[in-house]
Amino acid sequence: MSRAFNFSAGPAALPAPVLEQAQREMLDFRGAGASIVELSHRGPEFMEVAAEAERDLRALVGIPDDYAVLFTAGGATTQQALMALNFAAPGQPADHVVTGHWGQVALKQARPYVDLRIVASSEEDGFRSIPARESWRLSPDAAYVHITDNETIHGVEFQDVPDVGDVPLFADFSSSIASRPVDVARYGMIYAGAQKNLGPAGIGVVIVRRELLERSGQPRADIFDYRSQLAADSMLNTPPTWNWYLLGLTVKWMLDEGGVEEFARRSERKARLLYDAVDGSGGFYRNAVDPAVRSRMNVPFFLHDEALDSRFLDEAREAGLISLKGHRVLGGMRASIYNAMPEEGVQALADFMRDFQQRNG
Ligand SMILES: Cc1ncc(COP(=O)(O)O)c(C=O)c1O
Repeated sequence: MSRAFNFSAGPAALPAPVLEQAQREMLDFRGAGASIVELSHRGPEFMEVAAEAERDLRALVGIPDDYAVLFTAGGATTQQALMALNFAAPGQPADHVVTGHWGQVALKQARPYVDLRIVASSEEDGFRSIPARESWRLSPDAAYVHITDNETIHGVEFQDVPDVGDVPLFADFSSSIASRPVDVARYGMIYAGAQKNLGPAGIGVVIVRRELLERSGQPRADIFDYRSQLAADSMLNTPPTWNWYLLGLTVKWMLDEGGVEEFARRSERKARLLYDAVDGSGGFYRNAVDPAVRSRMNVPFFLHDEALDSRFLDEAREAGLISLKGHRVLGGMRASIYNAMPEEGVQALADFMRDFQQRNG
């Protein structure tokens, strides 16, 4: 068996020990006589899987008791609509800071439900920076301020938590959750699709300050109601049990590896390897993001001559380095280096980049 180093942005590489454990438990889940995929979500086996996943996620991310955790069948985009329905009164302002593609998607999802206000945006510079906090024109009566902690396509990441006063800060952590220590108490809500750092596609997590759940929000079906979901332990209807199980295994693996402090150190080193390869290439490769806000999780880069793109991708694949093609919004290349990507994989990519440059420069 040979597994490539997989730089996919999501669904993304999972740790090999997680996949191996899932394989071992596939036919007979811990003596149950059936796979976890085949068992009721109300049965003791899955109830324990779910409870353990929450306990481990709370330990990994450092989630205080006054925050609820929901496991959601919809991914991040769904939460971008649901947060408006659950936390904004009809017509109430919602402040959005837009620093890339996913911040733009968030606008689209919230627009039908709120008085949408773009209080800061880096669109004019092609989403290569984060507007200085002093320039944000916040609304005192906003339901929340929304940011994207890490822009997965544009490769732009907040380096600290912006102070937004008394209005709760809501953040899309889809591509950065559990990659560094985060003071959850600074946020009203954190949400993420799991398919980058937490496990497979098809499940997401919402971490929300409990007192916010007392807001009445807007008329909505029970199934879209976070309060109802919490009361039902995120099982108002049949949850994605397989995905939840894999998420639990992935979170446990991260705890075993040393937790978010360890992954922060690894991420720092991994990102440095790639940005050094780009910046030291004398223009053969480029990344135009403001170095102060470059992402540690997603490194977009462009070859100086795009006619070389397909050769780069073909040869990378032959060298065991896959999924490096950039998102169609930007083109070029992108290396996503989430927690499951080992440092040797990133070193192999940096070495390949230098070698490719020597042969084609
Ligand atoms: C930062 C960010 N937000 C939102 C999304 C959309 O997530 P989903 O596909 O789970 O709705 C993605 C990626 O897919 C993302 O990277």
